[in-house]
Amino acid sequence: MSQILRYCNNRNLAVNPQGGNTGLVGGSVPVFDEIIVSTVQMNSITSFNTNTGVLICQTGCILENLNNYLEERDFIMPLDLGSKGSCHIGGNVATNAGGLRLLRYGSLRGTVLGLEVVLADGTVLNCLTSLRKDNTGYDLKQLFIGSEGTLGIITAVSILCPRKPASVNVVLLGCDSFDKLLDIFKESKGTLGEILSAFEFMDYGCREVVREHMKLTNPLREAPFYILIETSGSNGDHDQEKLTHFLEKVMTSGLVTDGTIATEENKMKALWALRERIAEALARDGYVHKYDISLPVEKIYEIVVDMKKRLGERVKRVVGYGHLGDGNLHLNIITEVQDQQLLDHIEPYLYEWTAHYYGSISAEHGLGFKKKNLIYFSKPRVAVQIMQQMKAILDPKGILNPYKTLPSSNQ
Ligand code: MLT
Ligand code: ZN
Repeated sequence: MSQILRYCNNRNLAVNPQGGNTGLVGGSVPVFDEIIVSTVQMNSITSFNTNTGVLICQTGCILENLNNYLEERDFIMPLDLGSKGSCHIGGNVATNAGGLRLLRYGSLRGTVLGLEVVLADGTVLNCLTSLRKDNTGYDLKQLFIGSEGTLGIITAVSILCPRKPASVNVVLLGCDSFDKLLDIFKESKGTLGEILSAFEFMDYGCREVVREHMKLTNPLREAPFYILIETSGSNGDHDQEKLTHFLEKVMTSGLVTDGTIATEENKMKALWALRERIAEALARDGYVHKYDISLPVEKIYEIVVDMKKRLGERVKRVVGYGHLGDGNLHLNIITEVQDQQLLDHIEPYLYEWTAHYYGSISAEHGLGFKKKNLIYFSKPRVAVQIMQQMKAILDPKGILNPYKTLPSSNQ
């Protein structure tokens, strides 16, 4: 990697780092004549320490393969995404991917302990430590986490992995209003506490698309909202007791209209599929306008309702789902065909709405090529200028993933 970048930098050749190519904002695809530098062959595991749970591996390891390797040793990866079968850990780190279990294990900014990065001129920056604590100077690895390949190419990762939970339960609940859904969330945090490992939500439209396009049946009665809760703990009896207590509370107080619980692997997978396969189902439904927004949790569904009203008959479907526990909404608007007038009706209105509530216009998918000019909706001008200065220091010739993440300096 060092030789490739030195060669390209000397000749002013732009490069486009590419992992599993599963991103949603065009960060991993070239725009003009960039050379694709694929990490696909850098896929070996360097070491795993069963005392500390620290895994060190190369950047091109597929997330699911890492998880399988760890499961054999009674550990798991601290992140899980729908695209786990093809995304690379290097891409996950470079985009600071969030996913389904951030609620429990935190973001990669906390679990990544060290990185090896090759800089634009080929210099190898070795910050591949495995220390939990290290307050010596600036934490440079944080610069590269979420920088989408614009500051350096990550070649190796040191990551802290949790123990594989001995007991996992998945619950699917139906509920008839978003306010009730928020009450259920509050209740789950209080009653389930540390065993809560996912709190995902989806609206009725999501149920329809997975039924229509993936042929997946939701076992619950029809309801405007569904919640998928996962618990992970070290003691089955203890978790069961907590879960029963939680379910009694939400059932008797009328917060929930219907529910089902799964403890067996296949049934848990089937419930997860109703949530994990929404994006795939939507892609088959028509032309999809995808939005990935962070908002104060009580505001999350207001924008979906607002958009439905605003766009009315002009669209096929407006759906909302996502990582409620992290305040992250995936708002998807589906039309039969691409329609510029409609897009003008959605944007910048949606971004202004998000900025008004101090949300983020990209919660977990990054900016890439598609959203780079929207950065000002979520970051002040001074912050963007500092980012541009950092880019100029680390990549003075601008060869690393150009046209991505940051607007050009005159914008
Ligand atoms: C998800 O949570 O399913 C994805 O981040 C959303 C998507 O792929 O659109
Ligand atoms: Zn997501």
